[in-house]
Amino acid sequence: FLPKKKKQRDSLINLKIQKENPKVVNEIDIEDLNSSNVCYCRCWRSKTFPVCDKSHLKHNELTGDNVGPLILKKKIL
Ligand code: FES
Repeated sequence: FLPKKKKQRDSLINLKIQKENPKVVNEIDIEDLNSSNVCYCRCWRSKTFPVCDKSHLKHNELTGDNVGPLILKKKIL
């Protein structure tokens, strides 16, 4: 039986991104999105966080997880 705090520690999502901050928050201006597709990381393993670098593929392979990016699409008029 593990104490509750220990169990929660084992389930950390963020392993190394901005650990010096109490909370990781990213703000993106919609007007700055200039390509038609932008992918944002939701697995917290990207080396280019908050932008996806496809690290989720390795994470999923190693863990059996099924996470992937948030893809913002912009219609080109
Ligand atoms: Fe995290 Fe792609 S690298 S979702």
